[in-house]
Amino acid sequence: MMRLGVLASGSGSNLQAILDACAQKAIPAEVAVVVCNVAGAKALQRAESAGVPAVLLAHGQFPTRDAYDAELVALLRRHQVDLVCLAGFMRLITPVLLSAFQNKVLNIHPSLLPAYPGLHAARKALQAGARVSGCTVHIVDEGTDTGPIVVQAAVPVLDGDTEETLAARILAQEHRCYPRAIALFAQGRVELDGRRVRLRAPQGDPARTLSSPELFD
Ligand code: GRF
Repeated sequence: MMRLGVLASGSGSNLQAILDACAQKAIPAEVAVVVCNVAGAKALQRAESAGVPAVLLAHGQFPTRDAYDAELVALLRRHQVDLVCLAGFMRLITPVLLSAFQNKVLNIHPSLLPAYPGLHAARKALQAGARVSGCTVHIVDEGTDTGPIVVQAAVPVLDGDTEETLAARILAQEHRCYPRAIALFAQGRVELDGRRVRLRAPQGDPARTLSSPELFD
């Protein structure tokens, strides 16, 4: 059973989707620990309600990002985490974390990357007049929202959308995509071909052929 470390800063609705998928055994994984950098964040309550260890690691007490990430790595190791899932974790992470969990840190972003990296992705899609946006689960590299793409889902941008209505439509798809991406890792199906993710066929399939990541409709 793959052990997940979920890092969150806010409402934690993606965390909830992951907790639910694990509880329903929809994915062969369990949340070993939830780490939050913001006191009082709803994500902490969600972890506690699910009976999962929840740790507040406030960044104010660390002199540098590296020092924070070193403590984070120690904490994740203590909980024997295999895969780190950033779920609305509003902090830039450093090579200290990335080198400890090589190609084992995932992030979810509310756009079809590589469009609209960074903050306010829904606002940027509206401002650009895009007709389609969506969400992306990707492996984290040293850039901001630049790593290899694992799963994406597209949603329409509708006439009359506001930043809030578009973000909500995207968020609903995030809740499907994140558990799906984690399942692919937990099943050992993810392989990197340069910067591209290839998916092995499900275990038991003798072909174990490579295929491209899925784009849900
Ligand atoms: C999501 O939109 C995610 O894509 C972004 O931050 C938001 C987190 O929402 N990285 P939640 O805390 O999971 O509800």
